[in-house]
Amino acid sequence: MIEERATVEAAKAAFDSEFEKFEDLAVNGDDAAALLNEVAALRVRHTGKKSSLAEAKKLIGKVPPESRGEFGQFVQSVEKDLVERLDGVEALLAAAVSNAKTEAERVDVTLPGRRVKRGTLHPITIVRQRIEEIFVSMGYSIEDDREIETDYYNFDALNIPEGHPARESQDTFYTTDGFALRSQTSTVQIRAMERRGVPIRIIAPGKVFRRDTPDMTHVPMFHQIEGLCVDKGITMAHLKGTVTEWLKRLFGEDTVTRFRPSYFPFTEPSAEFDFSCFKCHGTGKLEGERCRPCKGSGWIELGGSGMVHPNVLKAVGVDPKVYSGFAFGFGLERMAALMYSIDDIRHLFENDLRFLEQFG
Ligand code: DAH
Repeated sequence: MIEERATVEAAKAAFDSEFEKFEDLAVNGDDAAALLNEVAALRVRHTGKKSSLAEAKKLIGKVPPESRGEFGQFVQSVEKDLVERLDGVEALLAAAVSNAKTEAERVDVTLPGRRVKRGTLHPITIVRQRIEEIFVSMGYSIEDDREIETDYYNFDALNIPEGHPARESQDTFYTTDGFALRSQTSTVQIRAMERRGVPIRIIAPGKVFRRDTPDMTHVPMFHQIEGLCVDKGITMAHLKGTVTEWLKRLFGEDTVTRFRPSYFPFTEPSAEFDFSCFKCHGTGKLEGERCRPCKGSGWIELGGSGMVHPNVLKAVGVDPKVYSGFAFGFGLERMAALMYSIDDIRHLFENDLRFLEQFG
């Protein structure tokens, strides 16, 4: 029995020496997982089927019956001791692994959320939408149409004859197959009347193109808004009333409009229209200085207008003896530049956020 006991004690001593590093273990989460594997290996080696302890258990039946009970209890107490110590560190290490995982996945729910940065509308869009709202409230619909046109829509139907300077290729962009990039939104007058017939009340905002060299007041692509009203009995008084009304709504009740005789091929008679400066209220002076937007004149020139030419009505099959109408058109860049004190309209197309973000 002495000999068998010694075998068990040797097995325990072997375990003790290997287990030493796990006594009083101060683990951090990083190596806990590796240590757990070591403990599992230790368990197999010292308590598993092929361990010295397992061998010792087989000896229980071989010791003399009178000491068999005592030896059996001894082996069991050693095994219980090993298993308890292994279970102890294992629990410790498993807890460390789990804590480390929780720590790594921790979210601070009190942190403020990431704010999605809101864009801002382009100044041209802001001005266009304000004007659209005014016209919609006056019973107009908004008409959209193509930017690439045939000469027929860009010129002929608008009573701009062959040989007219506007048709020159120095002024208009042409595609290689002979289409024109529309040089004015007036093309939509024709398209809209063809589509909807008369009576009609529309405005048509959109891009137009001209072969201009960019400078402070010119860019080769810009925006216009076209207006068209055709019905029975429409007169120049309706034109003046309409233009005056929308400018009052945009720039204030005290806004005054002025019409000057002019020439456009698609209107007869034709007039350019100005409105009293919204900065100096028509006085031309601002704090004793010359007012800038109107250059001291008190007036701001805005666009062209007139009574729709009979040839334009005929081009869309409308009888000019029965129907009459007015039309007008103006540029948005100039308006935006005036309203926001932009001194160079090229800024509107450079996509510089430092510029664009100012219009939120
Ligand atoms: N299409 C003209 C231009 O681009 C503006 C214009 C003038 C439009 C008179 C009209 C109008 O509808 O009647 O300069």
